[in-house]
Amino acid sequence: MRPFVLRPGVVPVRVLMIGPPGTGKTMIANKFGEALKARRIKRTLKFEFVYTNCFIHRTTFAIYRFLARNIGLTIPDKGLSKDDVLRLILQYLEDNDKYLILVLDELDYIARFDKKENILYDLTRLGEAGYTTKYRISLIMILRDPFSIRSLDGSIRSTLAHHVIRFEPYTKREIEDIIWGRVEEGAIYESAISDEIVATIGDLVGHDKMGPGDARIALEILLIAGRRAERQGRGAISIEDVNEAFSLIMPFPVSLLDYLDLHELLFLLALVELLSAQKYVRWVSTGMVEGHYREICEEYGTKPRAHTTFWEYIQRLSIMGIISTEPSTKGRGRTTKITLQGVPLRKLRDEIIKRVEEKLLRKRK
Ligand SMILES: Nc1ncnc2c1ncn2[C@@H]1O[C@H](COP(=O)(O)OP(=O)(O)OP(=O)(O)O)[C@@H](O)[C@H]1O
Ligand SMILES: [Mg+2]
Repeated sequence: MRPFVLRPGVVPVRVLMIGPPGTGKTMIANKFGEALKARRIKRTLKFEFVYTNCFIHRTTFAIYRFLARNIGLTIPDKGLSKDDVLRLILQYLEDNDKYLILVLDELDYIARFDKKENILYDLTRLGEAGYTTKYRISLIMILRDPFSIRSLDGSIRSTLAHHVIRFEPYTKREIEDIIWGRVEEGAIYESAISDEIVATIGDLVGHDKMGPGDARIALEILLIAGRRAERQGRGAISIEDVNEAFSLIMPFPVSLLDYLDLHELLFLLALVELLSAQKYVRWVSTGMVEGHYREICEEYGTKPRAHTTFWEYIQRLSIMGIISTEPSTKGRGRTTKITLQGVPLRKLRDEIIKRVEEKLLRKRK
């Protein structure tokens, strides 16, 4: 956006921001607007910055009218065409020697569904239409889906392709940084969270951990988990708070359990019980799980499987995405630690026990 600020009006500035949900597109566009406004106050009053969301203003006319009102023009509800409104806006900019940055957020809605609306066609051709001698309107266009630009007219596409900024899903590290950033801003008490809690959310959401990479989901988890802890009179968020919150947003597919045989279920039950017993740590060692699995087998009067089979269960359940494992550095020798993420443990325990008992009953018949 440098050319816009340094030499406004000489070249058309069009920036296209593309990226999946929660990757910071709207945030960056608005940060830019704020920076511009701060600058505008310091220097001259040359720039206008208007943010529009195409999901809220769904037609070209609605966008122009919102835009016009935002820069202080009075536009009657009826009687003017969209071209009339656009002309008034340009006239105003010209008369006052101002330049406008228009953000069109959630443009997918118009790009994909509203071919006849042609707002981009209008706005990218202002220079040619002879309205004005300078490029008075610059565009920041925000899209989620790269495919929705395909549905645009080829000539529009080529004029839009100047500056494409791609937003990538966030990694675990980035999600963790964003959460700590919120703590610094004072949105969350530092005492309410811990490295372990932040890492748990990072693992659930981080794109490199097969999560969605969506910052909004991470912040939502934090909010819901915080409320849950508060409701229960605790000052700190527990792992189970995070699990509960995550499962509200992305429910665990309980039907996966139907694919497991009796001993895989018993293994999972052992894991769930051990995890439930600890509040603020989310990993347990496989050795502990195996020990508890043997105890549970005894309780149910069934013979535990051999050590090697136990390892096959771990393999299979992690391939199915039900559990996660990590090599452990603690203690002597190479061990593995294991966890179950984003699932409320108590509910899961009930579901497992239900299936274990059904299976045992069928066996005995
Ligand atoms: N890098 C970041 N640092 C701090 N907060 C962030 C960052 N990226 C995103 N967020 C926060 O995450 C939330 C979602 O971000 P934002 O609204 O910018 O996503 P988006 O890319 O516009 O998503 P969508 O396509 O769904 O509209 C916001 O609350 C935003 O403040
Ligand atoms: Mg957005």
